Amino acid sequence: MIGVRRESGLMKKDGGDGFKSLRGSRIAAAIFVGLLVGCVFAFFYPDGFFVIHHQVATSDSEVVTSSCETSERINILKSEFVSASEKNAELKRQIRGLTEKLRLAEQGKDNAQKEVLVLGEQQKAGPFGTVKASRTNPTVIPDESANPRLAKILEKVAVNRELIVTLANSNVKDALEVWYTNIKKVGISNYLVFALDKEIATLCEANDVPFYRKLETDTSFDSVAKTGGNHAVSGLKFRILREFLQLGYSVLLSDVDIVYLQNPFDYLYRDSDVESMTDGHDNMTAYGFNDVFDEPAMGWARYAHTMRIWVYNSGFFYIRPTLPSIELLDRVANRLARENAWDQAVFNEELFFPSHPGYEGLHASRRTMDYYMFMNSKTLFKTVRKDSNLRKLKPVIIHVNYHPDKLERMKGVVDYYVNGKKDALDSFPDGSE
Ligand SMILES: *[C@@H]1O[C@H](CO)[C@@H](O)[C@H](O)[C@H]1NC(C)=O
Repeated sequence: MIGVRRESGLMKKDGGDGFKSLRGSRIAAAIFVGLLVGCVFAFFYPDGFFVIHHQVATSDSEVVTSSCETSERINILKSEFVSASEKNAELKRQIRGLTEKLRLAEQGKDNAQKEVLVLGEQQKAGPFGTVKASRTNPTVIPDESANPRLAKILEKVAVNRELIVTLANSNVKDALEVWYTNIKKVGISNYLVFALDKEIATLCEANDVPFYRKLETDTSFDSVAKTGGNHAVSGLKFRILREFLQLGYSVLLSDVDIVYLQNPFDYLYRDSDVESMTDGHDNMTAYGFNDVFDEPAMGWARYAHTMRIWVYNSGFFYIRPTLPSIELLDRVANRLARENAWDQAVFNEELFFPSHPGYEGLHASRRTMDYYMFMNSKTLFKTVRKDSNLRKLKPVIIHVNYHPDKLERMKGVVDYYVNGKKDALDSFPDGSE
């Protein structure tokens, strides 16, 4: 409950930032109108209190300044001019942002066209069956100051402002090697290892793997990377991700126990804040279903209908740089810092629980990835490997999330899908033993 309260506080803060620009432009408009009215008044009463000079401040600015006899009035006008100029610059920056989005939309590389519609005017609803709300929120304006060193690396590594990111320390070295070997084999260049210790940085350097070495002096993330337990490191992941989003990049967050068989960027929809692989294993569990709860004592009303969906996998998801996405990361990181909770559970609760008394839910749009293309190891070992048709499918990735013998199963997956060894998956039990 305490965690929940703190989160609503956090949310309000972020929401406030979101509104600032809107409020700013209103203030700018008000100042502009105020100045204009003052000038008109002064024009018709030139012998009154004021002596007026009209001037257009600069060639690219439409702000009109006035001056008058009393120095106090001059000072007020001066400060109004400065403030109006600032607002003007802010408006221009917003227009530049919109122009950039339009450009992206024309290239068909973003759903930016929809974003502009969201920001546009009020609309009539339109005829029955033709109405479609947007699930594609506008991206934030990139803020390089969030991490200038990382910004430089991302300029080189990212393609179309998106990339795969994994966090690794030396505990997962072996899996990491399988991870980047297969990424390279598939021909993906836009990926980055966030190296949490020196050994991983050295490994990446030696193998020509793009990496970012976390420094002790690095901004917000503390020393948990080295000393922290599992939960602390999980919390760190969401803090680190935030910086990528602040810099304006979409991130495909990836655990290391994942084998890449195709380029995932060819299979993303990019229409939602969060597009995630599922822990589900069939249409119902992956995409949601009506689970009827039976309470015979209620007689006529014995059946209560419930909504169920297997959780999103917080080890493989694509997240766009939008306010709801960043709010999600903040809320999850904030809760993980205070509660001894499983990051995946928290991630899902924040994504799915609606607002209710005493709680403000997150309004992020979500998409579940195809569970055969972005396949978890339960689906593979329980179903797919035993079905002659499904065996022929070529998934995009396999995530060995359901099994503790990760390295062996990852190698089995590579042997089966990459090296064509038909029996490479046969020796493994369905679950762990
Ligand atoms: C699962 O859903 C897909 C479409 O999402 C459909 O093509 C397929 O037939 C469904 N499978 C089953 C077993 O219902």
